[in-house]
Amino acid sequence: MKVLVLGNGGREHALAWKLAQGERVSQVFVAPGNGGTARDPLLKNIPITDVKALADFAEAEKIALTVVGPEAYLAAGVVDEFRARGLRIFGPTKAAAQLESSKAFAKDFMKRHGIPTAAYEVFSDAAAAHAYVDAQGAPIVIKADGLAAGKGVVVATSLEQAHEAIDWILADNKLGVVHNEGGARVVIEQFLSGEEASFIVLCDGKNVVSLATSQDHKRLLDGDEGPNTGGMGAYSPAPVVTPNVHAKAMHEIIMPTIQGMARDGIPFTGFLYAGLMIDEHGQPRTVEFNTRMGDPETQPIMMRLKSDLLEVLLQATDGTLDQVELQWDRRVALGVVMAAHGYPLSPRKGDAITGLPADAEDAMVFHAGTAEVDGQLQTSGGRVLCVTALGESVRKAQQLAYDSLVNIQFEGKQFRRDIGHRAVKR
Ligand code: AMP
Ligand code: GLY
Repeated sequence: MKVLVLGNGGREHALAWKLAQGERVSQVFVAPGNGGTARDPLLKNIPITDVKALADFAEAEKIALTVVGPEAYLAAGVVDEFRARGLRIFGPTKAAAQLESSKAFAKDFMKRHGIPTAAYEVFSDAAAAHAYVDAQGAPIVIKADGLAAGKGVVVATSLEQAHEAIDWILADNKLGVVHNEGGARVVIEQFLSGEEASFIVLCDGKNVVSLATSQDHKRLLDGDEGPNTGGMGAYSPAPVVTPNVHAKAMHEIIMPTIQGMARDGIPFTGFLYAGLMIDEHGQPRTVEFNTRMGDPETQPIMMRLKSDLLEVLLQATDGTLDQVELQWDRRVALGVVMAAHGYPLSPRKGDAITGLPADAEDAMVFHAGTAEVDGQLQTSGGRVLCVTALGESVRKAQQLAYDSLVNIQFEGKQFRRDIGHRAVKR
């Protein structure tokens, strides 16, 4: 069977790498892929990004299953297009992807279905938004409604920051948000304290199978300082998700979401990622929904998955996830992201990368912003690599990941030295 993975990040490299291990898989195409998927003899890059052209390719190549990585394809309706042409694809429709593409949709949905999340109001009028913030006080969280590549959220610790963020979003769009229909809107929500975790499940519209838990590190610098990024490292499992927290997340967040979407006439299929904030009493609340796998969470999660991913996703697209039980490596997996000079604001491209270690059963280098130019590997994006290792404990996985990256060189490389710090302390 031929499989197609859409996207060019570390998440897609890890998904394609895992799919290629499938018993019945003859070829995995990655569109457009990156320097790492180009090098892997089991994978083949295809330079197509247009949705209709991708469907043409899938038809011509008789692709058995297409797996979508990034949210932009989902919001562009890639699943609707493929399904309309009778092509098998795993992901949510454009309507269902609004759980991620519109924060206002997601918040209204959660309120209507009683799903625990931060209290909020939605505004398109700047004066009303400013007045609301003054009445609420800081800390307070300001979010743009549309897709903003992870940059559309400001956790304001002062009223001044909050007012500034409102103006960025509603007046001059300094964050580069892709606004939804009806123009710029801002969601203003209550600040939640606690520890975050990534809770990702597979859905077939009705049934749900949870993946191993994980935790991301969103800030650029050690000790969770500096600006927010797409994610600087992740590990799995996340000890903060105790069996009790897991049960609450399933019963109070995931199942009501799947049932609520079905009741609203937009059944959810695909990966559903609930970003949880877990308070000191073990109560999880939804900070956000993503309608895709996380990046870099996918890299450690795929290293731990023992089941054949193609077979699982075929069952997901058949609506028979109730018959699936996933098998996991008991070890901890931990991935450290190496980012380009200038990330996250203005990542530099074109720096030569050297010193990559050979891939091993317990240590893999997943590529993201890399490209092969005249046989030389170069940086080509913000997050460049994710060095991911397995170990008997968080400390051992951490040790191996950091040992594996010591020889990797590129000008201006940035990485955190404390990935996994919360789990190491426990
Ligand atoms: P989001 O894109 O909604 O996940 O927000 C990005 C990050 O901002 C989250 O991972 C949290 O660290 C933080 N954040 C978002 N909403 C809240 C909230 N209501 N309270 C505290 N932190 C938040
Ligand atoms: N790592 C966070 C995300 O994928 O949204």
